[in-house]
Amino acid sequence: MTIHLPDNPARADVLEARPTLWVNPAYRSGAINDKALPVRPDQVDDAQANWARIAPLLQTCFPELEASGGAIRSELIELTALRDALGYAGAAFGKVFVKADSALPVAGSIKARGGVYEVFVFAEQLATQEGLLGKHDDIRTLAGSEAKALFSTYTIAVGSTGNLGLSVGIAARALGFKATVHMSADAKAWKVERLTKLGVEVVQHQADYTVAVENARLVAEGDPSIYFVDDEQSRQLFLGYSVAAYELAEQLQSLGLAVDAQHPLFLYLPCGIGGAPGGVTYGAKKVFGDNVHCFFVEPVQSPCALVHMMSGSDELVSVYDVGLTNRTEADGMAVARMSAFVATVMRNMLAGVFTVADNDLFKWLSLAHSTQDIRLEPSASAGFAGPDFLVNHHTGKHFCQQQGIGNLEGATHVVWTTGGSFVPQEQYESFLQQAARL
Ligand SMILES: Cc1ncc(COP(=O)(O)O)c(C=O)c1O
Repeated sequence: MTIHLPDNPARADVLEARPTLWVNPAYRSGAINDKALPVRPDQVDDAQANWARIAPLLQTCFPELEASGGAIRSELIELTALRDALGYAGAAFGKVFVKADSALPVAGSIKARGGVYEVFVFAEQLATQEGLLGKHDDIRTLAGSEAKALFSTYTIAVGSTGNLGLSVGIAARALGFKATVHMSADAKAWKVERLTKLGVEVVQHQADYTVAVENARLVAEGDPSIYFVDDEQSRQLFLGYSVAAYELAEQLQSLGLAVDAQHPLFLYLPCGIGGAPGGVTYGAKKVFGDNVHCFFVEPVQSPCALVHMMSGSDELVSVYDVGLTNRTEADGMAVARMSAFVATVMRNMLAGVFTVADNDLFKWLSLAHSTQDIRLEPSASAGFAGPDFLVNHHTGKHFCQQQGIGNLEGATHVVWTTGGSFVPQEQYESFLQQAARL
């Protein structure tokens, strides 16, 4: 199918794969309270309660969570030297932080918030249903041999560009489930290797992410012993991610940083299929209301959320439909078609989407390394363009005016860095070399 995108200041840039900012004309205040949406704000609280309940089990399964009591949390790091290196030294940029999901324990990426959550919540449900876990029983029972014997009769399956597969595979194997990960052709060899070593079956498709997910779904449909983590539709993944907003609120509060009309909060979230950035956006809208503005960021050749949301179409529009290639080094974001579920929820809630060139991803990855020792993979560095787009780009300036934001000196920008700490040294060095060649 060929789609003609509507007239918009960003249209030509999108079609010619130049970095640009698109602002969502349907963005409106209070959108989270729309009763027609397929999720409800109180489900974020339920998800937070679920995380708290499974924490002791997480702590038992993953020794690295000993100090946090089983919580999977990341640091909020203020940019100092990196801020200067990025050209954000001036007061006009307000405060700039990194939310370092790149170093999240257990899975080394933002996918820990979704994949680990869904697998552990499923394990709890299954054990309850099978009479292995009573209402007042210790959740750590699920790390015992009886539970493992039950879990070993089930397979957890997922389609992935890499990191979701890692998080689901790691979580599944820790509880004794079998696990199958259907990988797209973009998946990096080290991610495949790591999973294989854990005893995860990896099915590599010579096709893109959408095809990998479709295959995984098909296999799961015919087999009741397979639990399919459906990245295109899963509410559990989405809600697992959403709880990150409470964590961020706590961190901002402990730094004495207000979020209000004079101090708006901007989140820059790398987007693949949209689950992770959509979930965080949803949670942030619940927690911060109209004073948070969330922007997705995508590679210039894979802006699936941008083209779909810009099209205004009810049918999903893919990047191929507008003549783009979906080719990018940012494997986590190499997705041609966004989740329909996320598109529905984001319709009036997402402030906009900007795009970035692959070369810039490597440049920012290298700067993050040399200035503040932050270890990123290419997908994870995409958000660094955010403050520049909001402060300097004509569309960003217009957006601020429309929102009644005079200037951004009181603003807090949070660049969500979504993965990187698990990247093997050799691969990481090749990223740095690639940056040096630019
Ligand atoms: C590092 C990284 N960032 C961002 C994303 C995007 O998440 P989603 O596909 O849920 O939009 C991914 C997805 O795998 C990822 O691996």
